[in-house]
Amino acid sequence: MEEKREGFGSRIGFILAAAGSAVGLGNIWRFPYLAAKYGGGIFLLTYLILVVSFGFSLMVTEISLGRKTGKSVIGAYKQADKRFGFLGPVAALVPFIITPYYCVIGGWVIKYLVTFASGQAQSATDDGYFGGFISQFGEPSVYFIIFAVLTAAVVIFGVEKGIENVSKILMPVLVVLSIGIAVYTMTLPGAGAGVKYYILPDFKGFTVIKFMKTIVAAMGQLFYSMSLAMGIMVTYGSYMRKQDSIEKSTRQISFFDTLIAIIAGLIIVPSVFIFSGGDEAALNAGPGLMFVTLPKVFDSMRGGHIAGCAFFVLVAFAALTSSVSLLETMVSIITEKFGLKRAGSTAICLVIVFVMGMLSVMGYSNLSEVTIFGYQILDFFDFISNNIMMPIVALLTCILIGYIVKPKYIEDETTLNGEKFRSKGLYEIMTKFVCPVFMIIILLTPFIAEI
Ligand code: PFF
Repeated sequence: MEEKREGFGSRIGFILAAAGSAVGLGNIWRFPYLAAKYGGGIFLLTYLILVVSFGFSLMVTEISLGRKTGKSVIGAYKQADKRFGFLGPVAALVPFIITPYYCVIGGWVIKYLVTFASGQAQSATDDGYFGGFISQFGEPSVYFIIFAVLTAAVVIFGVEKGIENVSKILMPVLVVLSIGIAVYTMTLPGAGAGVKYYILPDFKGFTVIKFMKTIVAAMGQLFYSMSLAMGIMVTYGSYMRKQDSIEKSTRQISFFDTLIAIIAGLIIVPSVFIFSGGDEAALNAGPGLMFVTLPKVFDSMRGGHIAGCAFFVLVAFAALTSSVSLLETMVSIITEKFGLKRAGSTAICLVIVFVMGMLSVMGYSNLSEVTIFGYQILDFFDFISNNIMMPIVALLTCILIGYIVKPKYIEDETTLNGEKFRSKGLYEIMTKFVCPVFMIIILLTPFIAEI
């Protein structure tokens, strides 16, 4: 028998849960290293412009599509237009690929939290600490399983009792923690120069090629950070109350998401800047910035162990509310497809997460020799979802809305409660012209880079 569709109990509950989905490792782990790598202020400025134009439009589309159809991503696309029904399963596949490896990284965060909380921060400053940890099989698996089970524990309680209630507690804590740590790091001696590097665009030595690369990186980050093009916002939209404003909610979710990313950068970039004396190589540490460089920074500060501990609590909370949204999207698909109860679908999804997550764990240990198109297993999952599948989903979604069902299909949903869709003009231009062109550029970039 099919379960009655659940929903969020309040507008603030929806906003916090959707913001909880958006604010995650993408904001705290990925955004700061990209900003540091792509020239600080220029990346920041590019990203901000993309959020209010491109990110805004795609999020309005997804939330409206979910709310209008009341379906998970598979049913939603089919209902909009039968010929685009195939897009549902493609979008649905994305969380099935991302959730397992996301939980593996969530496990790494728990490991660092335990290290800092047990007063062993010093050991995390060794150069080989991170590499040594992930190249084992046992410990990363245990932390991965802990993180995945925690995620499932929230999802199993359902939309209102589980996701909404947990988000209502964790999200305010997250904001307070992040502001507190940022204020602390910015008052450290010498932080000013780092803040300047991070915030002020410096156009010296900036070439067109560099600028193109920055745009592509910022756009990839936008999908990742705003949880777009993978069915999450369609799913959450389907739980949204009809009387609430989609446009206003989208603005608030994007604001929240961007705010936390900027604050995370304010914590990480100036501290690494002070620690390294403004050395470009340290700022360009890439994905290792949070796990390798930052522990050294915390260890070198006065009170840094407490700040480090608070920081990893922050990251763990952010990662948890995001992995909950990823798992919830999987669960909603399985529930709808097979007519199962929530507990049963959650159990099935957890098994899938275990199996695929273990592959990612082993990709750094037992299977470290295995590469797919030159990528390690976890990186391959990340590449195929973010660089290929998500731009394809976004491109086809824009074509579906812009040219097949027409923007009015979405606009009707946004104006359902008599409210005016204030950004209608921007929305149409983005959906019909700008977004599709950007998506094609993203899809072509690996080939252009090759040439
Ligand atoms: N938006 C979340 C984050 O920034 O971490 C969760 C997430 C969604 C991560 C989609 C990755 C992803 F591809």
